Amino acid sequence: MHIGKKSTVNHNINPKNIRPVFKESQPKLHIETYGCQMNVNDSEVVVAIMQQHGYSVTNSIEEADIILVNTCSIRDNAEQRVWGRLNEFKQQKKKRPNTIVGVIGCMAERLKEQLIEKEKTVDLVVGPDAYRDLPNLVAQVESGQKGINVLLSREETYADISPIRLDATGVSAYISIMRGCNNVCSYCVVPYTRGGERSRDPETIVNEAKVLLDNGYKEVVLLGQNVDSYKWTDSKNSTKSVNFAQLLEMVALLSPRLRVRFATSHPKDMSNGVLYTMAMYDNICNCIHLPVQSGSTRMLDLMNRKYSREDYMERINKIREIIPDCAITTDVIAGFCTETEEDHKQTISLMQEVGYDFAYMFKYSERPNTKAARHMKDDVLDDIKTERLNEIIALQNKLSELSNKKDVGKTFEVLVENHSKRSNDFLSGRTSQNKVVVFPKGKYEIGDYVNVKVTDCTSATLIGESI
Ligand code: 5AD
Ligand code: SF4
Repeated sequence: MHIGKKSTVNHNINPKNIRPVFKESQPKLHIETYGCQMNVNDSEVVVAIMQQHGYSVTNSIEEADIILVNTCSIRDNAEQRVWGRLNEFKQQKKKRPNTIVGVIGCMAERLKEQLIEKEKTVDLVVGPDAYRDLPNLVAQVESGQKGINVLLSREETYADISPIRLDATGVSAYISIMRGCNNVCSYCVVPYTRGGERSRDPETIVNEAKVLLDNGYKEVVLLGQNVDSYKWTDSKNSTKSVNFAQLLEMVALLSPRLRVRFATSHPKDMSNGVLYTMAMYDNICNCIHLPVQSGSTRMLDLMNRKYSREDYMERINKIREIIPDCAITTDVIAGFCTETEEDHKQTISLMQEVGYDFAYMFKYSERPNTKAARHMKDDVLDDIKTERLNEIIALQNKLSELSNKKDVGKTFEVLVENHSKRSNDFLSGRTSQNKVVVFPKGKYEIGDYVNVKVTDCTSATLIGESI
């Protein structure tokens, strides 16, 4: 995508360093994003920073002066994909040797200069808290050096930067409300790649949502590694503070026509206050992503999740009590260190007990330097991990289908997000419960709220008609 904004004056890049070929036109940035929603939003922040320094965005690698890859380290296969991609950029560098290749995000933070040592194509390595430094680092590369900044910060929230939305539909947008993570789940690399938790000034969050609303957006998704521990304290008056339930309410009050979603919740921190706030406002969507990871308390202890199976079920029951039509989704890890058949069965039985509407399911992947890597043995054979994961996936497919079948015959308010992938005569949108609904277009358009009666379903999609 080319964002055709006029170039602004560039204060940081020494004009002598801008390669002569592009003197007349704006230099072009191509950015690719791997991993989570937070990374998608970070890429939008990066584009905003680069745009302020005269760059425009291009979808084409061929015409890019800078290629940035925003990376994920959560599992080994996420990193392998990036290595593969970096290898592909070699061709482009042969064709246009001046092209700058940068690795940003979690892999940059985790591997630091090793990235440059291992892959000569890489000129630039920038961690998640150093994006403001990108223009300087690019200038450094242009003057013939490598550029690297992987400093983590205790304060950086990019609160003053308005992300440039890269998604073309203009219906739903991410807003990061906090960064980093203070939980040390033993399997997880995120606290090391994204640093400690810090919450963003609520006023800047509400302002960002307001600007989106004024620009026609219909939905905001509040993002954090653990939104329930959001807490902002006024530095001038420490008695003034805002928690997540209060922040949710502040955003929901902007307009009843602005949907509010959030992710991710942590079972140990999700308060009844959040649930009551959700129940109070129709525009706060009835969907909670509550990663369980395992149904076995023994595994949860080893994972350092700080809740038991019973604690988790207590939270589920509370959700059902306060918000009866709330969808519940989760993350599950199969084959964590020492997991037995019995532990696995506990995961299966918990999934059945909860009846998740949707789940992300993974095989455990040991990440260097995490607590698990340092103190535990990755001792479940890969074949067993695969077998257990397949069983988990097969069960979730059934649960999702069951959940969707229950919706047949019901009517939902659907926010239209796009045309259906299969046909332009159909629209695709989501219910409050975050389920995808496809229905004949009729007179409706992207961004409309439409009441849709569900007539049929698959395990992944509801099918319906507008009424
Ligand atoms: N191996 C497999 N899955 C992991 N996750 C986090 N770390 C790992 C790992 N080392 C999963 C968890 C988390 C989700 C974002 O990714 O389920 O909730
Ligand atoms: Fe996002 Fe986690 Fe991947 Fe980092 S490691 S990009 S935080 S999913």
